[in-house]
Amino acid sequence: MQVTFKISRFDPQQEEAKQHYKSYTVQTSPGMTVLDALNEIKWHQDGTLSYRKSCRSGICGSCAMKINGINGLACETQIEPMKKKTIVLDPLPSFEVIKDLAVNMDPFFEHLAAVKPYLINEEPPPDRERLQSPEEFKRISDPIACILCMSCTSSCPSFWTDPEYIGPAALYKAYRYEFDTRDKGSEERLEALDNRHGLWRCHTIFNCMDACPKNLKITHGISLLKRKVIAEKY
Ligand code: F3S
Ligand code: FES
Repeated sequence: MQVTFKISRFDPQQEEAKQHYKSYTVQTSPGMTVLDALNEIKWHQDGTLSYRKSCRSGICGSCAMKINGINGLACETQIEPMKKKTIVLDPLPSFEVIKDLAVNMDPFFEHLAAVKPYLINEEPPPDRERLQSPEEFKRISDPIACILCMSCTSSCPSFWTDPEYIGPAALYKAYRYEFDTRDKGSEERLEALDNRHGLWRCHTIFNCMDACPKNLKITHGISLLKRKVIAEKY
């Protein structure tokens, strides 16, 4: 089937750079993904098109974009099941566009770094590794599956109105370590979590869960984190 891709274009190096849409027609086949179509366009129709990609298998998180109005992974979105003659592609909302579908990821990773997304434990290590029971691991296995694609943070209305809000991805990563029985870093993370641009900016809107390509229970994790901070600090 023939599908028209209407793609948001923006090149800051062009004089009078303005966002606009450019259309491309692609002959699709069963199993073809949006990323396959973008590659087809870039390699055979217009080499100036910019977008991010790497793994092509839903692992690296780099190909997230807005696909027909909904954030998702280009490499995991098959074209034919969408049953659309036209597919509109935009960069992830609320992030500065560098070029076409590629956005500036720096603020996202700065917010992530603020919650110290790593195991903190100054106690002397045991002879072998720090052990965890299967039940303890189960509690944090959901956020471990997060691929940091930015779809959730980009879809959050609280982030749209407050760019300093650290956002659901960073909060969910904080949950991953705060509920890890081996971690002792709660006090060090508190500064980033317990303020008006941290945990309390989440108003339980649930957009983040709708946008997550891995169907992770982000809002649930943020709620448990709020309870933990209240119980431990207040
Ligand atoms: Fe935003 Fe998700 Fe909270 S959409 S407000 S982070 S529940
Ligand atoms: Fe890696 Fe899509 S290219 S998640």
